[in-house]
Formats: sequence, C-alpha cells, structure tokens
Amino acid sequence: MDTKGIIENKLRAYGQEQLLTFWDELSDEQKAFLEAEINRVDFEQIQRLFEHRNDVPESSQMAYRCSEPVSFRLSDLRERVDSPPFPNSQYDPYEAREIGEGMLRHGRIAAAVVAGGQGTRLDFPHAKGFYPIGPLSNASLFQIHVERIRAVARKYNTRIPFLIQTSPATHDETITFFREHKNFGLPDEDVLIFCQGTMPSVRFEDGKIFLREKWEVAKSPDGHGGFLACANAPAPDAWSEKSREEGVLADMESRGIEEIFYFQIDNPIIDIASPEFIGYHMLSRSEFSSQVVRKVHPKDRVGNMVMVDGRLHVIEYSDLPDDAGARRKPDGSLEIWAGSIAVHMMNVKFLRAKANLAGSLPFHIAKKKVPFVVTSPEEGAPVGTHIKPESPNAIKFEKFIFDLLPQANNPIVVEIDASTGFAPLKNHDRVPTDNPTTTRAGLSNLYKLWLNNMGIQLADGVIVEVSPLFANSAAELRDRLLAEGMWPKDNLITESVYWHE
Ligand code: UTP
Repeated sequence: MDTKGIIENKLRAYGQEQLLTFWDELSDEQKAFLEAEINRVDFEQIQRLFEHRNDVPESSQMAYRCSEPVSFRLSDLRERVDSPPFPNSQYDPYEAREIGEGMLRHGRIAAAVVAGGQGTRLDFPHAKGFYPIGPLSNASLFQIHVERIRAVARKYNTRIPFLIQTSPATHDETITFFREHKNFGLPDEDVLIFCQGTMPSVRFEDGKIFLREKWEVAKSPDGHGGFLACANAPAPDAWSEKSREEGVLADMESRGIEEIFYFQIDNPIIDIASPEFIGYHMLSRSEFSSQVVRKVHPKDRVGNMVMVDGRLHVIEYSDLPDDAGARRKPDGSLEIWAGSIAVHMMNVKFLRAKANLAGSLPFHIAKKKVPFVVTSPEEGAPVGTHIKPESPNAIKFEKFIFDLLPQANNPIVVEIDASTGFAPLKNHDRVPTDNPTTTRAGLSNLYKLWLNNMGIQLADGVIVEVSPLFANSAAELRDRLLAEGMWPKDNLITESVYWHE
C-alpha cells in the first residue's frame, strides 16, 4: 500500500479523511510535512474530548456545596503612604511583607508570564506583549512588565529570572522582540523564553480537524495550563544551557528559586512579586496561592474561587449556576465572592511533582474563531478556499493552570482592589470593556491614586504615567519627587507627564 493508502486507513478509523483532501496536488515536501503533522495527532484523544464536549462540568455542581476559601486582603501598603494596613485575621501584614522581602533578597523568587495566547479578541497582528499600552509612552506590555521586574530586583538587590511562555503563534517574534530591545535591560541569562505545545482545532459541529493550509493541520496553543508541561521539558531556544537541556523549572531549582510569581501578559498594572502577597503565601505554607477581586455582580466574568471538601477549586463564570451565584450572606454580600485574576504564587517543587504526573491537568473546550481551508463543497465555499470566519466555528482544547489548585496543599486567596492591580487587555476598542482605552485608563488611574494618596491632585484631563523604574509604588514616587525637587507647585499637576529614568 502506498503512503496515502496507509494514512487514509488510519484516518478513516476516526472519520478524519478530510485531512488528505489535497494530497494528490501537494509537492513531495508538503506531503512529508503533512504526514508528520498527522503522525503527531493523538486521534483517540481528540475523539474522546469531542465526544465529551457537552458534559456538564463537575464544577457547576460544586457551587451548591462550597464554602469560602481562606482569604487575606492586601493591605495596600504599596499604594498608601501613611495609612494603617488592612487588618488581616491571621497574619500581620508587616510580618508578611518582611517575609516576602526576605524571599526576594535571598533570590528565591522568579516571575513567569504566560504569553502564548493568540489574542484573537484584540485583533492585533503581533504577540499581545508587543501592544503599545503606555498611555503617554506607548511602552509595550512586555516593556512595562520587565521594568516592574527590574524595579523590584533593584530595590532588593537581587535577581528575578523572567520566564516567558510563548506558543508557536508567538515564539519566534517574541525572541526577536527581546533581542531587538536588548531584553529591556534584563541580562540574557535571566530571560527564559520557552514554547508551549499545541492541540488540533476541530469543527464545532462534527469534530473534524481543520486544515490551516492544504498541507498543515490547524493547531492552537494548548491553554495557559500548557505551562506545566513545557516549563518542565527542555526548552531548545532558551538562552540558558540548563533550561535548554532540562527545562526552565529544573533551571530554577538549580538557581535556588523556590516560588514563582505567575501572571498573564495582558495586565500591565499588576504588582509583580508583591512582598506582602509572597509573605501570606509563605506564612500559610501554601503550594498555590491566588490573587482575587471581590465580585460585584453574581455574573461577573471571572473564575469563582471556592472551597469544596477542603480543596480550592475554580468554577468558571460560564459554569456557575445562576441561583448558586446569586446566594447572599446575611450582610448582603455575595457568598461566592472571590473572582480569580489569574495571578498566582506557585511552589517550584509542587510544580515539578505535578508536571511529572501524566494527566495532572484536564482539557477544557473553548469555542473560538479558527481560519481554515474548505475541504468539502458542503462548507458553503469552493474546496480549497481559505476562510477567515466572522464568528466562532471551532473547538480549541485548552488546559488551565488553576486546575492544579485542588491538588495543592494549604491554598489561599489574597484579595486586592482591582484599581490597584487588575486592568486586563482582552478586546479591541469596538468592545466596551477590557479594551485598550480601559487598560490605559487603568494604568493612569493607578498613578493618579498614588498621587492623590500623597495629597497631589491632577487638573482635568491631565494624564500622569510613571515608569516602574522611576517609581514602583506610591512611597517610592513620593520619595523620588521630594529627593529630586519635583514636587508639584501647590500640589497640583497641570500638564500631562511621563516620568521615567
Ligand atoms: P486568554 O484566555 O485571554 O486568551 O489568555 P488570549 O489568547 O490571550 O486571547 P483570545 O482569547 O484569543 O482573545 C489569558 C492568558 O493566557 C495566555 C495568554 O497569552 C494570556 O496571557 N495563554 C492563553 C497562553 O499562554 N497559552 C494559551 O494557550 C492560551
């Protein structure tokens, strides 16, 4: 039997013969490429996942028997200059902060960003990390994150390695971007770029795997939870030998890193490696801690963090039954209140143990827009046409990092105020929320908050942007303005200004 016949037999068993639609017109090179693509697909897994696509997630039932997680509230020590900290029940915020600072000083903390998403909702032709988000500077998301990391490292006279998860959609250009910008000032050995895995995308109606090109399977990154596997595998393009040979987690262990501060690329106001957050995580002996915001409405589009049978779980907003989500406590506040903002502290040993266990993370399904090549006239266009769909047409299979939570010991949540740490960039400006305008406003509001807190007002329409290297907290900003004789006259700023080094 010829190659085509052998592949056809294999595909027929799973109803995926459409992948060979264009075989006869492909060059030898393209045929070899497609054959390798097909050999990499686990058809049984795809079939199983598709068959179970409509299963009601177990987590929706949990909403009826859950309780509140162990929680702390960040006392805003970073934003407020003088006011007393928020009283936490169990641990003193100053003690937490001291412990976090100690971890930083001793070089025990790394920062990790997941930046492998395709950012389809943003409608931007590059990796989301390149998006120019600084309200006055147009600094990219990557630049702002690196400046925050450098600011913290400088303050504690330490090094904070920066782990950057990419995907085939973002990998090469991310490497080039960092090279071109000289890593925005970080040394090469502290920038660890590694690429996550992919999963084939299938048609929503019948589970047929799409072709992206006539010789190429349509694939998408396997979710932010892909982090677990790819951080534990050799990272061939990393700029550190240990990462290249054994993976970034092994590299972190050998550098004495014990905990990873994990965040998403789209949130430029995040307080990276907040000592107080690190401190609560350490004091609680938690293996996995998460920042949350207090939900205002039952249907707020954030994952809901709840305790079930002594374990912390996330119920996605789409899985939260209306009646359970609307339940209120006697004081009128929501019972299910803790909304995840995907900022975590994760213990390195815990991650390594889980990464070595097959199946630590299940796949979820996401309905998304996936461009494809038409393989049958029934698809409404001539065979061979490239289609860029206007609405979601495909299922992507994704792993979520927070599925590790129920496996973690002593998990905690730490509440923050969204205005001080959460302004995600998800959508283009035609959508009213989480778009470039709201995220830029989130950045300038943070700096305005710092200034107001020290008694400085902004005239109408004035925007202040602060590079983290100029000041990374209200207290640092106050000290810098005083030390450099820049305190505004009459405590009033009348013109927009970008303060940077
Ligand atoms: P989102 O779920 O917001 O997805 O990712 P996205 O890809 O950025 O955007 P859309 O949905 O296509 O519009 C949340 C975070 O997880 C990362 C993203 O880069 C972002 O930081 N992510 C997502 C990955 O690293 N890998 C993935 O496979 C998916």
